[in-house]
Amino acid sequence: MEKALQEAARLLAEARRVLVLTGAGVSAESGIPTFRDAQQGLWATFDPMQLASPEGFARDPKLVWEWYAARLEQVEKALPNAGHQALAELERRKEAFLLLTQNVDGLHQRAGNQNVHEIHGSIRRVRCTVTDHVYAEGEIPVRPPFPLLTPQGHLGRPDVVWFGEVIRMDACAAVERFLAAGRPDVLLVVGTTGMFPYIQRWVMQAFGLGTKVIEVNPEPSALADFCHVELAGKAGEVLPGIVSPP
Ligand code: APR
Repeated sequence: MEKALQEAARLLAEARRVLVLTGAGVSAESGIPTFRDAQQGLWATFDPMQLASPEGFARDPKLVWEWYAARLEQVEKALPNAGHQALAELERRKEAFLLLTQNVDGLHQRAGNQNVHEIHGSIRRVRCTVTDHVYAEGEIPVRPPFPLLTPQGHLGRPDVVWFGEVIRMDACAAVERFLAAGRPDVLLVVGTTGMFPYIQRWVMQAFGLGTKVIEVNPEPSALADFCHVELAGKAGEVLPGIVSPP
């Protein structure tokens, strides 16, 4: 592991263009449960399809809003961890940097990252189900009575991507543009199982371009065959050491 850490630190220090892909694991040390872990306690009896699908929302928007309000409360109490902070520091140091996250918690932005693209949307925004207008954070406070209504009296929904919905094309386009503008020197993949085909495709594409791929995950993921450096550890423990080596 020591050698791998040194190699990752060297690759990052030398890199000019850095692409980062993150998943739920980067927020684990901030106490944000993954979707599956969040299905506990009060919510254990609910089917994820009921809580996070357009059909479930159409059936019972009040229930779905109560669930998202509970998750949002957790997110607001949480703080960015040392892993988020290291990624913000990495962005400050690099000439070209883009971070694509599957997380909806906004912790990368709170840590200070600027060029962040949320492929699954954000739990901190509300979208109108009629006009598709997205309200900025805090514009429609998430508090009872639920379901939330927009100022026009339309039904609002969390601005997240649910099962069966299309991912954020603007986020995909941003990654594609970044890749087209020049080969990234490093692709850093943090805290994701890599089970979604678009994540796998970007990792394979970067690998094919000759980008050095570094993965941080305490568990083996689906992406191992396309990684040059695998760091089997937690984001909050590994990232500070490879971004700002002692
Ligand atoms: N540091 C780094 N990685 C971690 C840590 C940690 N401290 N703790 C856990 N992990 C890793 C796990 O080993 C796992 O590979 O993070 C990954 C989390 O996996 P998922 O929960 O499947 O998260 P993700 O890959 O982001 O899933 C994508 O699926 O569950 C839905 O909506 C959810 O957007 C999410 C999507």
